Amino acid sequence: MEIRSIRGMNDILPEESIKWKRIRHVMERVFESYGFREILIPVVEETCLFQRGIGETTDIVEKEMYTFEDKSGQSLTLRPEATASIVRAYVQHHLYASGKIEKFYFWGPMFRYERPQKGRYRQFYQIDVEAFGSDDPSLDAEIIASLYDFLTRLQVPGVAIELNSLGCPNCRPGYQKVLKEYFSDKQAALCPDCRSRLVRNPLRILDCKVETCHELAMKAPNIQEFLCETCKTHFEAVQGYLTELKIPTRLNPMMVRGLDYYVQTTFEAVSENLGAQNAVAGGGRYDGLVKQLGGPDIPGIGYAMGMERLVMILKEMEKESPPWPCDLFIATLGGRARRFGITLAAKIRKIGKVCEFSYEPKSLKAQMKLANRLNAKFTAIIGEEELRREEIILRNMRTKEQVTLPANETLADKIIAVMEPRETR
Ligand code: HAM
Repeated sequence: MEIRSIRGMNDILPEESIKWKRIRHVMERVFESYGFREILIPVVEETCLFQRGIGETTDIVEKEMYTFEDKSGQSLTLRPEATASIVRAYVQHHLYASGKIEKFYFWGPMFRYERPQKGRYRQFYQIDVEAFGSDDPSLDAEIIASLYDFLTRLQVPGVAIELNSLGCPNCRPGYQKVLKEYFSDKQAALCPDCRSRLVRNPLRILDCKVETCHELAMKAPNIQEFLCETCKTHFEAVQGYLTELKIPTRLNPMMVRGLDYYVQTTFEAVSENLGAQNAVAGGGRYDGLVKQLGGPDIPGIGYAMGMERLVMILKEMEKESPPWPCDLFIATLGGRARRFGITLAAKIRKIGKVCEFSYEPKSLKAQMKLANRLNAKFTAIIGEEELRREEIILRNMRTKEQVTLPANETLADKIIAVMEPRETR
């Protein structure tokens, strides 16, 4: 029987991976210009890292983690997000000892046992950005600016940055109490999940997608009215910087995010092109997390973007992916020509050109067809007869012009000279 990939886990085929490559290229350019440096973290961590980091009452920890025991009986989890792991690395390697603001970026696969649908998968890829060491609102603004910059550079259309402040351990409990009171006499209208959220984490109800819960949430007390002076001043300063930077934002007091570590500023980038799963990125400040995971009391802020969602938007924009480049195709006829051709291919690639070799000894017509399918700009035709005369033929596949070149030590350079005449080099 045919073996297929696991539900919600996709192959990214070369046609599509061209787009991924472009995204990663822009990622490096933009984030390095902000002083972020790349960090790489393991795919598997101790389960307790995510339980403590993300929060016991979140959907991720309650329902979505891929958790298993290894051969020694240790409980391990495939990472559902990167923040907890990056904080762990920051603490484990004492990166805070530098005394400076540390800024990282990362990209890689995440795993969540969610119900797969368009834009929601069980293995998906995130680009993640984190910064540690300052609670100044200018850092919040720069982090959001880097996200906006990145999406603008990729020419993602219809993007809006939604903003909220979730308060801090001083003011949030007061708001949670008010929310609890508001929803208590409406329990009958809440979904079973929200009834349990009401006891354990009433803020989560605001994020529920069930219609009846959503309608009640729309009329719930607004968190903005319950922020303490510190949180209010901080949030106003963040908004002020963003206005200064001309980054369009809109306030969304219903945005609570699905992870428990957030305090104060939270944000999401949404795109009208995405449908139900419209968040292309999300993040916020998590000032208590480093301490909670065993480090000093150092503030942090960051966000993550779903690569598949980015690709979906970009796919709608450019229906056709550009053809894979092939500078030279090498067609051969006969055993001696194949040996000559394979060494010529090696030389051309050393010069840095994309070169394809005809692996199957087919007719010249079939090989020329293959050269066209590969989008080759030039084809080197090497036949026994030509080699006897110590020559090869180089064909320009667009103009159909052909030149004969001497099959000697300088052949690779001669080919390059024809492919790239001096004036265009
Ligand atoms: P998150 O909102 O859970 O945040 O995920 C961020 C982004 O990952 C989402 O906006 C979405 O684009 C993508 N995403 C999430 N789940 C899926 C899925 N099942 N399939 C496809 N894409 C998905 C976090 O993960 C936080 N760690 C962000 C953060 C970093 N906060 C601070 N630093």
